[in-house]
Amino acid sequence: MRTPIIAGNWKMNKIVGEALELCRQLDEAVANSDVEVVVCPPFTALASLNALGLKKVKLGAQNMYFEEQGAFTGEISASMLVDVGAEYVILGHSERREIFKEEDELINKKVLKALEANLKPVLCVGETLEQRKTGDTEKVVVEQTTKALVDVKSDELANVVIAYEPIWAIGTGETSDGQDANEVISSIRRTLAKLYNQELADQVRIQYGGSVKPDNIAEFMNQSDIDGALVGGASLNVKDFVGIIEY
Ligand code: PGA
Repeated sequence: MRTPIIAGNWKMNKIVGEALELCRQLDEAVANSDVEVVVCPPFTALASLNALGLKKVKLGAQNMYFEEQGAFTGEISASMLVDVGAEYVILGHSERREIFKEEDELINKKVLKALEANLKPVLCVGETLEQRKTGDTEKVVVEQTTKALVDVKSDELANVVIAYEPIWAIGTGETSDGQDANEVISSIRRTLAKLYNQELADQVRIQYGGSVKPDNIAEFMNQSDIDGALVGGASLNVKDFVGIIEY
């Protein structure tokens, strides 16, 4: 009932020419897929990719600021992203939280602004290795989810995608096992049911992310509560990303 969504987070990789080449090939290769396919390139490639007129592949950004416009040197607004064809925006990625010190309150403001601008947030949540070891995984993801969704209205919730990304699994080659990721994701869905209701919670797509590759994607997609993947490293190469989409 939920359409699977596989999104590529390119992070700080690829100049415009490389982005165009990859997306041209990807769009052709996945033209008939039932899965929703999204790529999130650096800001600099969005306008050119939008001009390609991709048929299947949708565009997303990796971050944005919550203000409409003004003196915010170096920042990009939600309406600027919409203007260059973005439909999604990754918010609260662990690299933003850790390297750029983004906190839940800021992420919440970004989520609200994205929704107001008709951008679909891909809200990232996940625990550190230390939090996992102390048994705090569920507590951490429930808290991050709850704080990021403050003031999000019921009729906006289905436009939010959540990505559960255990931080220790990002870019490390280590993955959570499918069942374990499914349990954490189920706890996120239970949180949504408590904050809203079960029917709305059942509409929200929740992805797994962290070292997803063609040879481990099926393990995640076979789980009852996992609706897709947020893919970093393996989305930088057409063959691997197509392999994931064709799980
Ligand atoms: P990875 O990154 O697939 O390279 O582990 C995932 C992410 O950071 O979204």
